[in-house]
Amino acid sequence: MNEDVVVADDAARFRQILGSFPTGVTVVTTLQDGRPVGMAAGSFFSVSLDPPLVGFCVMTTSNTWPAIERSGSFGVSILADDQTEVCRRLASKEPNKFDGLAWSAAPVTQSPLLDGAVAHLDCDLEQQHLAGDHWIVVGRVRSLNVHRDDAEPLVFCRGGFGRQSPL
Ligand SMILES: Cc1cc2nc3c(=O)[nH]c(=O)nc-3n(C[C@H](O)[C@H](O)[C@H](O)COP(=O)(O)O)c2cc1C
Repeated sequence: MNEDVVVADDAARFRQILGSFPTGVTVVTTLQDGRPVGMAAGSFFSVSLDPPLVGFCVMTTSNTWPAIERSGSFGVSILADDQTEVCRRLASKEPNKFDGLAWSAAPVTQSPLLDGAVAHLDCDLEQQHLAGDHWIVVGRVRSLNVHRDDAEPLVFCRGGFGRQSPL
């Protein structure tokens, strides 16, 4: 048994322990000067059914965040288990992350939605709350759709990718 960490002043241990909580993987996107920008986000969460609200947390230093703040809208693509390379690309700081990636414009906000994703959401930016080194971002869902109900969603846990399988 490891010793309990009482004060989270050990960043590596903090990440290791929080990393044992599995998440799905999304790509959060918007348009910047007509071009797609985005990042991988595992912090995506549902907030409210009425009104329909969802959220995610974004590092204050993210390049995607200022673009979302400016456009006032964002798209969410819930990645499938055959999209690990898409996730790696969107988790990078490469300037042309969308080169070679197929996407289409969301019906209401025109935010980029990635082909091959399990499902998509199209959101207007509704609230932002600064929490430490992240923004907690809340969006109002304007449209949503399931695209591949045959595919399993991608899962991220303990620094690696996996897939959801029924017990
Ligand atoms: C599986 C996975 C989940 C991630 N989830 C988040 C997240 O929820 N919030 C965040 O700010 N960064 C998250 N990241 C890291 C960002 O994708 C990464 O910092 C990216 O380079 C940000 O790009 P940008 O600066 O172009 O916005 C995640 C990375 C991976 C691999």
